[in-house]
Amino acid sequence: MIKLGVNIDHVATIRNSRGEFHPDPFLAAKVVQKYGADSITIHLREDRRHIIDSDVKKICKNKKLKVNLEIGVNFKMLSIGLKYKPDYICLVPERRKEITTEGGLNVSKNKFKLKKILQILNKAKIRTSLFINPTLNNIKISKELNSQCVELHTGKLSRLVKQKRKFTDELNKIKKCAKYAKKIELKVHAGHGMDYKTAEILSSIKEINEFNIGHFIVGESFFYGIKSVIKKFKKILKK
Ligand code: PXP
Repeated sequence: MIKLGVNIDHVATIRNSRGEFHPDPFLAAKVVQKYGADSITIHLREDRRHIIDSDVKKICKNKKLKVNLEIGVNFKMLSIGLKYKPDYICLVPERRKEITTEGGLNVSKNKFKLKKILQILNKAKIRTSLFINPTLNNIKISKELNSQCVELHTGKLSRLVKQKRKFTDELNKIKKCAKYAKKIELKVHAGHGMDYKTAEILSSIKEINEFNIGHFIVGESFFYGIKSVIKKFKKILKK
């Protein structure tokens, strides 16, 4: 069964909009896991627009939580990751002006730095992942750089599905990538822009091990409650 990682960044977005303490991402992490999430994803952005250092500290300190920390590719963020020791770290591209993580890493351009950072994280026994656009070359390079997992960016597929446009080419691309990644012994994750419909479509790809979903879960919980939203996703992933 595909695992469900829940990204709780936007709980922090709501909290920060008032500059106070509510809603608390730490409490959100506990609740999300209690209702069936397999892991909690938090992205510590360099501009700290949602999750902040004290959230990472508190969430990672609770060893009952399985934490996937997303960070940009630089040594300052790496040292924060090493300090708080999450279970997993996913390296992502970051641009200050973007609204969200708009594309995957340019793995061929950043080979040297990525290899070094992955080596340090692997040595620290933190599971490593690279957030990449779904191309065979990106997967091949991710393996060469010694990442343990790849997370395939599903933003394009999600957009096509939401706009009710033809998505089979993009889906086939993701399928091909997932099969190739599994063949060369990389764990395959998928995420970005996903909702019930895309989760259902992508769950037909048996090589995918994990989904990471955030914005839709936080938004949908406003209408139906976090417990029922997670339950619905788990039901889709069980099929
Ligand atoms: N995976 C990665 C690597 C991300 O950076 C994000 C959020 O930007 C997500 C998954 C979740 O995307 P969304 O919030 O659109 O579900």
